[in-house]
Amino acid sequence: MKILIITSSPNDDGLTAACGEEAKVGVEMGSSDALTINLNTLNMSACHACGNGWGTCHDEHTCQVEDDFQKLHGKMAEADGYIIITPVYWHDMSESLKVFIDRLRRCEALNSEKSNLAGKPFICVAAPGGSGNGCISCLASIERFVDHVKGVKYDFIGVTRRNRDYKLTTIREAAKSMVKSLKL
Ligand SMILES: Cc1cc2nc3c(=O)[nH]c(=O)nc-3n(C[C@H](O)[C@H](O)[C@H](O)COP(=O)(O)O)c2cc1C
Repeated sequence: MKILIITSSPNDDGLTAACGEEAKVGVEMGSSDALTINLNTLNMSACHACGNGWGTCHDEHTCQVEDDFQKLHGKMAEADGYIIITPVYWHDMSESLKVFIDRLRRCEALNSEKSNLAGKPFICVAAPGGSGNGCISCLASIERFVDHVKGVKYDFIGVTRRNRDYKLTTIREAAKSMVKSLKL
């Protein structure tokens, strides 16, 4: 059982990273393997909207823009579940996460055989600043992606500096619970 934890912040020691660490602890408490990847360490460009709007993503379910996307796309396909964590920027997800899911959605959403992510559980975490502004709209934006790839919505969690203590516990418990649910 392998869970992919995707973080998407430039800060190694910020709130997003803390959430990622707790998620990893939770997955491991559930006796599964966790792989954490910070999108901000990868070289991934925005979707080029190839051709007349669709490239190989439409029929071949692959992205023709060659960079670190391909490797991570493969890891997504292999994983059994996902924990996606983003800081809230401008009431939305971070740019690095947006770039990744824009391209992933194109490859997976139209896979009529079966999306590689279909039926697999997602925990999505939004980490705004102290105001909490945009937490809900950020999670709603990620929810649309999960819907498009036919994922299972296991949990959507907002965490701020104010509620950090108990929400980190929530993230850990959610991760553990998601892993256990996969083993039933
Ligand atoms: C460009 C930018 C935009 C931001 N927009 C918001 C926002 O809309 N709402 C909010 O509550 N915090 C906003 N913040 C604050 C971050 O969401 C917050 O500090 C977050 O916890 C940072 O996560 P990190 O510690 O992992 O970097 C913004 C920060 C940046 C850099």
